[in-house]
Amino acid sequence: MHLPHPSSLLPPKFTHCQPRPDVRNILITGGAGFIGSWLAYMFASVYPDSYKIIIFDNLEYCASTKNLAFLAEYKDSASFVKGDIACEEQVFSCLKTHKIDTIFHLAAQTHVDASFTDPYAFTRANVLGTQTLLEACSKVGTVKRFYHMSTDEVYGELMPFARNHVESDPLAPTNPYSATKAAAEMLVQAYAKTYKLQTVILRPNNIFGPCQYPEKIIPKFLMLLKHGQKMTLHRGSGLYSRCYLYVTDAANAMNIIFHRGEEGGIYNISSRDEITNARVCESLFSLVGRQRDGCVWDWIQDVPGRLSHDRAYGVDSSRLESLGWKQEVEFDKGLGATASWYMRFGEDWWTGLGAKDI
Ligand SMILES: NC(=O)c1ccc[n+]([C@@H]2O[C@H](COP(=O)([O-])OP(=O)(O)OC[C@H]3O[C@@H](n4cnc5c(N)ncnc54)[C@H](O)[C@@H]3O)[C@@H](O)[C@H]2O)c1
Repeated sequence: MHLPHPSSLLPPKFTHCQPRPDVRNILITGGAGFIGSWLAYMFASVYPDSYKIIIFDNLEYCASTKNLAFLAEYKDSASFVKGDIACEEQVFSCLKTHKIDTIFHLAAQTHVDASFTDPYAFTRANVLGTQTLLEACSKVGTVKRFYHMSTDEVYGELMPFARNHVESDPLAPTNPYSATKAAAEMLVQAYAKTYKLQTVILRPNNIFGPCQYPEKIIPKFLMLLKHGQKMTLHRGSGLYSRCYLYVTDAANAMNIIFHRGEEGGIYNISSRDEITNARVCESLFSLVGRQRDGCVWDWIQDVPGRLSHDRAYGVDSSRLESLGWKQEVEFDKGLGATASWYMRFGEDWWTGLGAKDI
């Protein structure tokens, strides 16, 4: 099957920054996953002559080698290495072989629901994996910069009427996933100080778009509707909200922070589109064209809620905006492109994913 790059659905506006003369070989961990593969695509397509991109990923269930199909077009500047960030030997060998000078660390266990049932897998990948990478950086000696992908969830739930979080606010995670992400941040900051590693921490809100494994709300509900099944909404969470940023805007935020940001800094990455779960359901229902089969409420199934479920998160990204970044893709536009992509490729993208797994 010919796989057009999903960027053809909604051509991204990536900013072409002045390439950094002190950077050559960039490792992207988790680069076969959703955001990592878009980040790798951004670097490969915008800076093919300036940087070499090495994707490092152990191909968990949520990864897809189809996310890496674009590498064929950028053979001279981008490549893939299969490996586990928690395996010292594999990490060390990759950093040395490819003379890595910069790391974008995105590899992680990312599904909050799974963090309640399999919490140690989260600690292994997100905490031990991050520390293994940092240890390898301290020993190999070539790595100068470490960009750590964290999450807005590290701040904990945003209380009604509270202002959005700024980067200096304390961390107060509320579930095993966000706790491992906060722990990883502590390690990054400690290694920065101990080993004089230049680090930057990124805290984005919810990111959506094509190539996201269908376990998170948008792709999961799209696939359920596609298969004529109801959207499984956590009990009582219809008015809970998240801010949603389209994935190319997130990749561009990382691009701008990398080229213009302050080393040692922390950057929130946020969207202005705060959307309730009920509105997500309504929008998906109208996009997938199930209207002829009743109203949206006929297509929602009430399922038990999470053990702890934050009502909202909110981060202030003025710091990022002062570097010249702005959100380009409105929620509805991004959702339309995302829905078309899942309707066309959906379950074909991930090995062994069938309707019963969604
Ligand atoms: N998707 C979001 O809405 C969102 C929001 C905020 C922050 N983040 C963060 O962004 C990063 C990327 O998220 P995503 O949505 O692309 O996730 P994803 O689940 O699509 O991808 C994660 C990738 O990490 C890889 N991976 C997992 N464990 C690994 C290991 N031990 N060794 C090597 N590779 C491993 C997986 O194979 C996968 O390719 C994560 O750090 C996540 O916490 C995501």
